[in-house]
Order: sequence, then C-alpha cells, then structure tokens
Amino acid sequence: MSKLRVGIIGAGRIGAVHAETASFRLPESQVLSIFDVNRPAAEAVAARCGIPAVANSAAEILADPRIDAVLICSSTDTHAGLITLTAQAGKHIFCEKPIAHSLPQIDAALAAANTAGVKLQIGFNRRFDSNFARVRQAILSGEIGTARLLHIISRDPAPPPLSYIKVSGGMFMDMTIHDFDMARFLIGDEVEEIYTAGAVMVDPAIGEAGDLDTAIITLRFRNGVIGTIENSRQAAYGYDQRVEVFGSEGKISTANNFPNQAEVSTGSNIRRDLPFNFFMDRYTDSYVSELRSFVNAILDNQPTEVEGVDGRIPVVMAMAARKSYDEGRPVRLSEIEN
Ligand SMILES: NC(=O)c1ccc[n+]([C@@H]2O[C@H](COP(=O)([O-])OP(=O)(O)OC[C@H]3O[C@@H](n4cnc5c(N)ncnc54)[C@H](O)[C@@H]3O)[C@@H](O)[C@H]2O)c1
Repeated sequence: MSKLRVGIIGAGRIGAVHAETASFRLPESQVLSIFDVNRPAAEAVAARCGIPAVANSAAEILADPRIDAVLICSSTDTHAGLITLTAQAGKHIFCEKPIAHSLPQIDAALAAANTAGVKLQIGFNRRFDSNFARVRQAILSGEIGTARLLHIISRDPAPPPLSYIKVSGGMFMDMTIHDFDMARFLIGDEVEEIYTAGAVMVDPAIGEAGDLDTAIITLRFRNGVIGTIENSRQAAYGYDQRVEVFGSEGKISTANNFPNQAEVSTGSNIRRDLPFNFFMDRYTDSYVSELRSFVNAILDNQPTEVEGVDGRIPVVMAMAARKSYDEGRPVRLSEIEN
C-alpha cells in the first residue's frame, strides 16, 4: 500500500479540518468518499476538498472495498457504534474524542477493534502540538531530572451554546478530557486519585443544566507526581493553553501561541496582540501531525501513537473528577472501575 485510501463520516467542524488535511496536506492519503446525515454539509466539504463521492450512508463507505481507513468525525454519541461497524468491515479507524460517555460502550468498541485486528487511533491532537511534544521529550530524556509537579492551564475563550453543554457529557468529559490525556502523556504514568474543586462562575444557566464552568482538579500519579489542571470555560483574552513541569533538576514551561510576535512600545506601556482565539487556530499544525501519524502507522504497519486504551482512561478520569466534585472528596480511579 503506497497511499492510504480514506472515507470520512461526519462533515462538521472537525470533519472539515480532517478532510482538508487528508486531501491537501498529506500526499500519502486520498479521500474517496464522505458521509454526513446532513447531506449539504458533506457536499460542501466534498466540493471544497475535491472529494469525488458523497455517500448516502455510513454503510456505503464501510462496504466500499477500495477504502482502507475511516475517519469518524461525527457527533460523540455515534462514535462507539461506528467503531464497531468499521472494525467489522475490516477497516482501520481514526476516531475523534471522546469514544463514548459510558465504559461498557467503550469496552464493546475497543473489543471489536481488537477482534478485527484493525488499527485504532483516538483524536487527542494536543500530543502532536510542538510545544507539548517538547515538554514530553524533556521529561523522557531526564532534561529536568525527575518530574515532581505538573500544572496544566486550559481556559476556553467562551462557553459553547447551552444546547451543546446539555449533550456534551459535561465539562470534564468534553473539555478537560484533553487535559487528562495531556497529563498522562506528559508524565508517562497513570493517575491514581483525583480531587476536584469546582464552581459555576461564568453563567448560572450552565449550573442549571447540571454542569460546571470553573475547576481546579488535583491529580495524584502512581509514581508520586502531583498535578493540577485548571479549567475555565471563559477567558476574556482568548484561548489560554499552557503547561509547566517542575522536576528535580529544573522546570520546563510553555507559553501561549500568538498569530504574530509584534510588540508595540509607547510612552505609556508595552503591549501585544491577543493569543490565538480557539482550538481551530491554536492547534492547526497538531491536527495535521496527528493524521500524518495515523496514516504512517498504517502504511508502515506500526502501532498508532494514541491507542484505544488512551481513549478509555481519560473518560474514567472525567468520571472520577465529577464524582469528586459531587461528593466533596478525593476519588480513586479504581472506584470508577468497580
Ligand atoms: N480533537 C479536537 O480538538 C476536537 C475538536 C472539535 C470536536 N471534536 C470532536 O469531534 C466530534 C464532532 O465535533 P464537531 O465540533 O465537528 O461537531 P459538529 O456538530 O460541527 O459536526 C458533527 C457532524 O456530525 C454529523 N453527524 C451526526 N450524526 C451522524 C451520523 N450518524 N452519521 C454521519 N454524520 C453524523 C452532523 O450532521 C454534523 O455535521 C465530537 O465528538 C467532538 O467531541 C474534537
């Protein structure tokens, strides 16, 4: 196989990003067909990306013998079922996060992929961001000695619409899930216990919908590292995405990414423009790198860099974070499994 032939299910925000990447930025891949229950959305992406076919159903993509791999980019509630069907069709799978909000559903999907022997990669794109990859490298190489403390700051510019919040599974499942993955990825070990201090500070309607918009989550890792994740659904100055790891021989930290580096100095102050406003701009390069990694894993017959289990553990962490908030106490991840 010299070129990976791809089908795409879901042509919304993230489906369009992956369609453009696979069509224009990765010479090793070719998109043959795209499907969305909202046909005009699929048609628009197909026209923009030169995708030759708009399928009438997901089944049509799964039955196409020319297609080697499927990118599942539809709404979260469809992921687990589509992983199972795609695996049964013998095709490799890239699936957006989260796999599902329930562990039995996730386990059924992972078992199907395992039984079929197909490759599965979950869309935790931030691992492929050059800032965070450099932090991981510093920890792996011992550049800062032994890691002791981890801080992740992750603030969105503005909350999503209430209609979305109601079906999102909550802030921990939808937003913090990226930070849970980042914590495991950077430290290279598993979290044992989580304690959440959470609040509704941005919009009372978010609280009325049963969710939070502000939290500090404390993580205790098996290897002794202590971490915090700080989340807000609203930051007046835009998208705030930073990490710091403190170790026995030093520390490594990353700043926000900006559209330009210009600094304006006047008689009254020194100022600069705001950082990138949200994930589509901030993480553009990481979406390309994650898909390149997926395509190469298949073409070179290597394991994917973000496997099925990496999609499951952050969901367990999200459940533990919520339980900790609800019960006002530290929660061990083993409590969620039992
Ligand atoms: N990794 C990331 O950074 C990232 C960013 C955004 C979204 N996501 C994830 O990607 C998924 C999609 O999010 P989005 O922001 O693109 O949402 P979206 O609402 O913009 O797009 C979802 C699309 O899926 C389509 N759809 C729904 N059910 C379908 C089905 N059964 N078959 C085919 N198409 C179907 C909808 O019509 C819609 O066009 C979510 O799971 C989300 O959590 C990940």
